[in-house]
Amino acid sequence: MPALLIFAPMANEANNPASPAGRFQELISHCKEYGYIFQSSEIYDGLAAVYDYGQNGAQLKKNIRDEWWKSMTQMHDNIVGIDAAIFMHPTTWKASGHVDNFSDPMIDNKDSNKRYRVDHLIEGFADEQLAIGNEQLAKEILASMDALLAKDDYTGLKNLIDENKIKCAISKTCNWTDVRQFNLMFSTEFGAVASDNPDENKVYLRPETAQGIFVNFLNVQKTGRMKIPFGIAQTGKAFRNEIVARQFIFRMREFEQMEMQFFVRPGTQMEWYNYWKDERKKWHESMGVPAEKLRFHDHVKLAHYADAALDIEFEFPFGWKELEGIHSRTDFDLKQHQEFSKKKIQYFDNDLKEDGKPYGNYTPFVVETSVGLDRLFLTIISLAYAEEKWLKEDGSEDSRVVLKIPAKIAPTKLAILPLLKKDGLPEIAKELMNECKSAFHCFYEEKDAIGKRYRRMDAIGTPFCVTIDHQTKEDNTVTIRYRDTMVQERISLSEVKNRVLEKIS
Ligand code: GAP
Repeated sequence: MPALLIFAPMANEANNPASPAGRFQELISHCKEYGYIFQSSEIYDGLAAVYDYGQNGAQLKKNIRDEWWKSMTQMHDNIVGIDAAIFMHPTTWKASGHVDNFSDPMIDNKDSNKRYRVDHLIEGFADEQLAIGNEQLAKEILASMDALLAKDDYTGLKNLIDENKIKCAISKTCNWTDVRQFNLMFSTEFGAVASDNPDENKVYLRPETAQGIFVNFLNVQKTGRMKIPFGIAQTGKAFRNEIVARQFIFRMREFEQMEMQFFVRPGTQMEWYNYWKDERKKWHESMGVPAEKLRFHDHVKLAHYADAALDIEFEFPFGWKELEGIHSRTDFDLKQHQEFSKKKIQYFDNDLKEDGKPYGNYTPFVVETSVGLDRLFLTIISLAYAEEKWLKEDGSEDSRVVLKIPAKIAPTKLAILPLLKKDGLPEIAKELMNECKSAFHCFYEEKDAIGKRYRRMDAIGTPFCVTIDHQTKEDNTVTIRYRDTMVQERISLSEVKNRVLEKIS
């Protein structure tokens, strides 16, 4: 048992000298140092807002994705999963409205040539005002911004920026262009044949996975004999040419979404919207996110396809931000695809009777849940990261950095550590490894002193370590150490696998 006299998670100390921004930088460095996240193409100085997941990050990301997939498709008997291609027929994006509407109001600073999303520029200014105690001004400016965005009033937004003398972070000047719209979709050429008309072979990298679900609505409904209400779930990459891409993996140009479109009878959409709103918040809590770190934010300005929309926000290290979107998308998408494809996309409702007769054909309404996998990863890892220090019995200080990732999604569940590299201890350890590795992810390590190996496993977030020592040879027992409490316990070697399975189930 460690001599734990003071147990102080530094991340929660109000008087901790490290600022939230400083701690966030430490988390980013930690992610790199322990194989979670690397900057993309780092040897060429990286590519802005594009990241690679390392050996531990990829496993954690997969575990989160698997939990979502299971909760949607396995735990709901009326939701099925698909995997649509990233490339889609270009007309998809004309029909969905993305070619014409998937743009954000932007503004350029004429001195630095830096382009900003108008809402991010104003929000950044409001955050600064909050930080210096100007709460009233921050509130007013955000309320004005919401009202102007809702009216697409770009002149008003420009005036708001000018009146408040909002400066460019680089040039520190207020020399702004007018507010203009920029499309966020990436395009590329399809096929090998060069054409005089550059638009002829143009395809887009999908900016959301949802459209792959809409265009497959009939395929899935008919082949799966799905009855309304039912859902189609999908996870996969999406691409957006974000102008202000910052805050690590919060806003990326290539990211992953986990989306579910729930098809319902017209008129029942608000009932389902409220159902999914609560379900999704509960699901985040089941993933270890404390309820007080989650809140709802209703949209003021609705997207072109929605009749209601909200964000589930999480309190990230840099403030409250969107984690997941819940959107009531009406029948907009299916109707648009019907019109553009000239194929009838409707559902024949045999169950709903009017005057004893089937209700007939209609275009279902859709309630969508859409969460960014990378944002959820950031949520989980920022909650897990803690710097702890305590006094040992001899009065000296000890400390560690630990990732308290919930055991069920931790990349490695069990570290198997022979105390020495000799005396038959590695053989026993490897036998245990062979017994456990088909059931869960294990890690074998025989280098360095045991204390150092424990610290490394804490930093990686491995919830259980088992040490094999000379006593193991005598009585077939091992020491199991629990990451979060650092408590150690002697258990039988034959119990290890079940003990871990019990804790991660
Ligand atoms: N199909 C609806 C849709 O795409 P959205 O609110 O634009 O709605 C849904 O995106 C979720 O995708 C967001 O809540 C966020 O978690 C994630 N997301 C969006 N843009 C992102 C980006 N640039 N980087 C990382 N995640 C992003």
